[in-house]
Amino acid sequence: MSETHWQSGRLDGFRGPKALLFGRVYEDSAIEAGVFPAGGRIACIASAGCTALDLSHQHAVTAVDLNPVQLAYAQRRAAGAPPEEGVAERWMARGRLGLRLVGWSPERLETFLGLADPAAQSAFWRDRLDTRGFRLVVDNVLRLTLLSAIYAAPLLQVLPVPFGPVLRSRLQRGWSRHANRSNPYARALLLGDLTPPGRPAGSPIRFVCSDMAEFLESCPPGSFDGFSFSNILDGAGPAYRARLFRAASRAGTKASMMVHRSFAEPDPDMKWNLAANDRSLLWGVVSVVPLH
Ligand SMILES: C[S@@+](CC[C@H](N)C(=O)[O-])C[C@H]1O[C@@H](n2cnc3c(N)ncnc32)[C@H](O)[C@@H]1O
Repeated sequence: MSETHWQSGRLDGFRGPKALLFGRVYEDSAIEAGVFPAGGRIACIASAGCTALDLSHQHAVTAVDLNPVQLAYAQRRAAGAPPEEGVAERWMARGRLGLRLVGWSPERLETFLGLADPAAQSAFWRDRLDTRGFRLVVDNVLRLTLLSAIYAAPLLQVLPVPFGPVLRSRLQRGWSRHANRSNPYARALLLGDLTPPGRPAGSPIRFVCSDMAEFLESCPPGSFDGFSFSNILDGAGPAYRARLFRAASRAGTKASMMVHRSFAEPDPDMKWNLAANDRSLLWGVVSVVPLH
């Protein structure tokens, strides 16, 4: 049995069938590609398959997900199927529709996304997008009371309060660092473009439907050179966290690296946080740590 909310296969706290939650991955796989040794054996969370597909060009990838609907989708995509909308994309589309009311027209967003100079992007953001109307909408929509209609309590627990201003400052940080024109994650966020950033799979990906900790516990020691855990710990308690790290230490080599993300704000003394380097712009923590 898994001790995590994700076991329900839903973003909300209701009972019901497991759903396709994510039509694409909002995590910059360049972080993983820059950390894992070329040719290494990598265990990653499957989600919508984007990270697994990207890594499969340089690595031997095992993609694991406990949601069979999500895993089947990642498998279809690795076989060349087109992207589909998940629950997250449907909510984001509603949010984008609301932002049209405060001037975020597709034309304005296309102009912004066509920029490549971070200084010009920051100026455009300040003058044309980060308006008082935008701040009002975002800060109110991202209140916990409203979010709790969409997300189950365990997924919300990690969010900094108030989340709106924190998210706005993460976006601002991203525009001031990464060229929009070549940033597929910015397009996905602002326009809902599901086109994957990568190419079709390089080497074949092994897909496993399982809880990640349970899967790693079943693997021989030294099976993997790297781990990409998405933000599965947002939604799991401390006992699961300890179990996952223990299982990864055992299933990894002495040199294995682990990448995991969180919507939480980082601890002030955190050493290896690459959140600012992640072009998907959303994360408070992109932790890159050696397992031993
Ligand atoms: C953690 S969610 C978050 C989505 C992600 N940030 C993205 O951008 O796609 C990604 C996937 O992790 C899967 N997942 C969550 N906890 C898991 C676990 N303990 N073991 C295996 N898969 C898990 C979920 O089913 C989901 O498909």
